[in-house]
Amino acid sequence: MRAVVVYESMYGNTHLVADAIGAGLRPAFDVTVVPVAQAGPAILDGADLIVVGGPTHVHGMSRASTRKAAVEAADKPDSGLKMEPDALGPGLREWFDSVGHYPARAAAFDTRMQGPAAFTGRASKRVDRLLRAHGFDVVIEPESFLVTKQNQLMAHESARAREWGTKLAGLAARCEPSTQG
Ligand SMILES: Cc1cc2nc3c(=O)[nH]c(=O)nc-3n(C[C@H](O)[C@H](O)[C@H](O)COP(=O)(O)O)c2cc1C
Repeated sequence: MRAVVVYESMYGNTHLVADAIGAGLRPAFDVTVVPVAQAGPAILDGADLIVVGGPTHVHGMSRASTRKAAVEAADKPDSGLKMEPDALGPGLREWFDSVGHYPARAAAFDTRMQGPAAFTGRASKRVDRLLRAHGFDVVIEPESFLVTKQNQLMAHESARAREWGTKLAGLAARCEPSTQG
């Protein structure tokens, strides 16, 4: 079975989480972890499971304006932030505009600041809704992984992402249609 983890990331945290989820999905799945800018139809084609995640910006999914603000924040002296190579490309919002109806199993995740989700927002809720709207069979509740105020992934979040990937692999395998093969 093949899984694709599609991530959007400005500062690298969502990338780290995507890699950890990918590690948790192995060895149950043949896993490809790919930035959203490179997640074209050829990579998605024939995948059994698609996992999609991005950073929470202004309580939801990023937009061109919030990505610009993220670049400006990183450009400030002493920000300590390093941009991802694909950070200036399109985000998940634009990716969903180009994804047609897709019947694969799926799951959503995000990164966000620590705190009650009612205050911080969670991009994964919207990602989850868009996955369902595009016909994906979502097999797990959306999950958030937390960063510090300095935009560093909190301790243990990589390990938690890996565990979530392992749990997701079990759920997705259980949903395998019995008619296949
Ligand atoms: C413009 C901007 C807006 C943000 N808004 C929120 C927000 O509303 N809630 C929140 O929890 N985090 C917010 N954050 C923090 C991001 O969630 C955090 O930078 C992101 O999870 C880091 O992921 P990345 O390293 O993959 O870019 C914001 C960050 C930026 C740059």
